[in-house]
Amino acid sequence: MRHWVLAHRPDGLPKGSDFRLERTSLPAPKDGEALIAVDFVSVDPGMRSRLSGDSYAAALGLGETVESAGVGHVVESRSARLPEGATVMGGFGWTTHAISDGRGIQVLDPAIFSGRITPTASIGVLGIPGLTAYFGLTDLGRPKAGETLLVSSAAGPVGATAVQIGKKLGLTVIGIAGGAAKTSYVRDDLKADAAIDYRAESDLAAAIKRAAPDGVDIYFDNVGGEQLDAAILNLKQGGRIVVSGQVSEYNAAAPRGIRWVTPFITKRLRMEGLVVYDYRKRFGEAQAAIAGWINDGSLSYREEIVAGFERLPEAFAGLFRGENFGRRLVRI
Ligand SMILES: NC(=O)c1ccc[n+]([C@@H]2O[C@H](COP(=O)([O-])OP(=O)(O)OC[C@H]3O[C@@H](n4cnc5c(N)ncnc54)[C@H](OP(=O)(O)O)[C@@H]3O)[C@@H](O)[C@H]2O)c1
Repeated sequence: MRHWVLAHRPDGLPKGSDFRLERTSLPAPKDGEALIAVDFVSVDPGMRSRLSGDSYAAALGLGETVESAGVGHVVESRSARLPEGATVMGGFGWTTHAISDGRGIQVLDPAIFSGRITPTASIGVLGIPGLTAYFGLTDLGRPKAGETLLVSSAAGPVGATAVQIGKKLGLTVIGIAGGAAKTSYVRDDLKADAAIDYRAESDLAAAIKRAAPDGVDIYFDNVGGEQLDAAILNLKQGGRIVVSGQVSEYNAAAPRGIRWVTPFITKRLRMEGLVVYDYRKRFGEAQAAIAGWINDGSLSYREEIVAGFERLPEAFAGLFRGENFGRRLVRI
């Protein structure tokens, strides 16, 4: 197998030299095990904090395979749970092959993963990104029909799902994204009520005010930094901030942080961080709801496939330059 390992802890934006491509011989599967060929692996902004050891999860060690979700197929099996030819999903990491005893691996049911639902949706809209949107919004967001929701990185997999669930809950939804193509997608495809191109705005707080003159009730924050401050200035009395991610801060040596704190007092704001794995026991409920919406055509998702295992580090770094348009996966 070939696998990408962490060679250096990144300083700022991740570079190719922070990773090393290694080749390792895998043993033949033993009784109860199977050999899996990985077909797609994900690149996730949250992995950046694990590379430098400031995540809620343990830091990735130097020389360890970079972790990620993946979809593959069983090529050789001595396990009844993992039949040859089955399509499987699991946390394989940035690797071409894996030997598995089935723990932590899900065999994808062709009855569910067919038609509108691709196998790769299991690591996207039906995986961690979709679940983050679902639980962040429905639980921490405390939404009530008629309220106004603001979502940053609204064209990304978490943001796009939050926008669409927000519309289903009867919210007025405003998405923030970078560039004309992404904002058109947020408005026209995801059916947000308004979309703001933050790159084209010199005063983002004023742009949010134009889109939501009566203020914002819930800010679903994927980005942090300046966008968070602009959102705080527009929050209403009793407003909630769902802290999903801080992608604008992940590569900073020291975070920019929050400038506007007084509104938390004057407007009784609440800001709460999310770790999606805390909802593990309810994943099935959320996945059934999201799958139902995809199948009835009322929720869409966008995947962007980068071809070539060798390109994994650059595909990952591109997330922090806004290059991905949808759930970025690398095809092996
Ligand atoms: N809390 C949890 O349990 C949990 C779980 C999963 C993910 N997350 C978080 O959810 C967020 C979204 O994740 P995702 O997988 O859907 O990826 P994503 O939103 O597609 O993340 C990449 C996008 O972030 C935006 N971005 C990158 N650098 C930026 C910067 N400096 N300033 C402003 N925007 C920037 C870019 O979009 P534009 O081109 O629009 O700027 C880029 O395309 C991430 O922060 C991630 O860490 C949290």
